[in-house]
Amino acid sequence: MDMTIRPRRLRKSETLRKMVRETRMDKSSLIYPLFVKEGENIEEEIPSMEGQYRYSIDRLPYELERLQKAGVDKVMFFGIPDVKDEVGSQAYAEDGIVQKAIREAKKQFPDMYLITDVCMCEYTSHGHCGVLCGHDVENDKTLELLAKTALSHVQAGADMVAPSDMMDGRVAAIRHILDENNYKDTPIMSYAVKYASAFYGPFRDAAGSAPSFGDRKSYQMDFHNRREAIKEALLDVEEGADIIMVKPALSYLDIIREVRDTIDLPVAAYSVSGEYAMVKAGAKLGYIDEERIIGEMAVSTFRAGTDIYLTYFAKEIAKLMDEGRIG
Ligand code: PBG
Repeated sequence: MDMTIRPRRLRKSETLRKMVRETRMDKSSLIYPLFVKEGENIEEEIPSMEGQYRYSIDRLPYELERLQKAGVDKVMFFGIPDVKDEVGSQAYAEDGIVQKAIREAKKQFPDMYLITDVCMCEYTSHGHCGVLCGHDVENDKTLELLAKTALSHVQAGADMVAPSDMMDGRVAAIRHILDENNYKDTPIMSYAVKYASAFYGPFRDAAGSAPSFGDRKSYQMDFHNRREAIKEALLDVEEGADIIMVKPALSYLDIIREVRDTIDLPVAAYSVSGEYAMVKAGAKLGYIDEERIIGEMAVSTFRAGTDIYLTYFAKEIAKLMDEGRIG
């Protein structure tokens, strides 16, 4: 055989395969999403997300400790309030659940990097991501409340805020209020490219945040669209976003690549609740190998171009990296 080019040469051993790997990643790019809830002594498993829990603040330190041990030092907080109302007032209350969680976490774990999700849907009685005018989410009025929410998170000690509501102009509104209050150095990670996705289903069970009527299609993006992702990302860059997020991850690898190639900011990708639930369900039935699927999903998301990965599997991925199976 006269064959000089043999790609298999570089696949001969694990040592060689590792040497020529094109995708490298490490634990510093992992962010773990975490649900905090009013009450005491609560660590309740989320039925649609086996292995994920809602924590009351007194139980939160145990989970933060497990994360720290695993080498995951970044978390994103989601709050589950006791009381919801039309305008989501617990979202920006000084003693709101996220604000309290941040204070407690900062006190006990000063080295953890604390990010907060900024949105209204967990806090409004109707479950929409903003204030309503009739059946419509009122963009500009919502901006004021989102800005107040972001400010209250930062005042409580949040290191970074991440607006996920998909209102137009919210990055500018948040940047403005933070600057005005002398938080010029607090970064904004924008859920810039967020699709209206059925993959959020389990999260809405977890947070009790499903809309009581209609859907989120008048503010989240239509998943048929690719160019619109760039439009949204560029807008948020102009408004002062520091990191651009794409969400979900698994079905949107093309979008992650496109955003990576077009935008000169760090890119984040969020592997959402439905992705987690599918893996868990498939593994429970014995149809797939959970660990290998988790690794493959993580690597493919980095290969698509993400710099930062938000995932409920953060601890498992950290372990796979420690064992040298991925990374
Ligand atoms: C809040 C928010 C949602 C998620 C992150 N922030 C729910 C939604 O938009 O309905 C989803 C996260 C997940 O599914 O894991 N707006």
